[in-house]
Amino acid sequence: MHPTVNIAVRAARAAGDVILRYHNQIDLLTIENKAANDFVSEVDKAAEYAIINEIKKSFPEHSILGEEGGQILGDEKYQWIVDPLDGTTNYLHGFPQYAISIALYENKVPFHAVVYDPFKEELFTASKGEGAFLNDERMRVTNSKGLENTLIGTGFPFKHPQHLDCYLATFKAIHPKVSGIRRAGSAALDLAYVAAGRLDGFWEIGLNSWDIAAGVLLIKEAGGFIGDFSGRDMYFETGNVVAGNTDVFKEILKTIHPHLTEELQK
Ligand code: IPD
Ligand code: CA
Ligand code: CA
Repeated sequence: MHPTVNIAVRAARAAGDVILRYHNQIDLLTIENKAANDFVSEVDKAAEYAIINEIKKSFPEHSILGEEGGQILGDEKYQWIVDPLDGTTNYLHGFPQYAISIALYENKVPFHAVVYDPFKEELFTASKGEGAFLNDERMRVTNSKGLENTLIGTGFPFKHPQHLDCYLATFKAIHPKVSGIRRAGSAALDLAYVAAGRLDGFWEIGLNSWDIAAGVLLIKEAGGFIGDFSGRDMYFETGNVVAGNTDVFKEILKTIHPHLTEELQK
């Protein structure tokens, strides 16, 4: 494992300890509403603090973007992107599907990624050019051709209700073509599952950079493809994501495209 990933793993495990310490005492947590259907608990904040602390010990000069604390300015060449708890709504309901997502971008190129599911003790890692791993096993995207017999992940636009009708139209278009669709509630894990071949593909509207920064590299290093709804790599700008092997990626795009509003086609 690359030494930088080791540091990211240490940071993720520190956050995992915080998250698991409270997972049986959720009733005691202070929970705030950042926006409609967007919650933050003291666990999200403490987990982010633990991650930043670990990164800073080794790389005090790097920039760090955390979902809860915002941007910590530093050397712009090195940008960490951190979601301390992806799947907060699941966590707050005791639904065990959530993860920590940490990525390091160098000159805007993803170099290292960690997604860690502390409950299942599953560690997804990747470094540019060195492959992607689930614990010690190499990951590969599936080799499905087309959408027949596939299992596809997605996310509902519950933070963006203005896109619900459009989303439901894309769902209706995908539904008859696949074996199943899953909405598990953590985009970082959804992308890690595509990289691991547990899902054949994925699409979601309106994600943030911290939801996807690590998943991008996991998928690329597992031989997959990730893009926005125009098929380019503007997912950070648009927040819209499609992923899968090359063929599944193209098929999802082709299937949803006629149903997208003009705004979402960009
Ligand atoms: C959310 C999860 C969810 C996705 C949302 C994200 P959070 O992240 O990834 O699957 O549908 O759009 O915001 O808020 O739990 O970190
Ligand atoms: Ca998130
Ligand atoms: Ca989060």
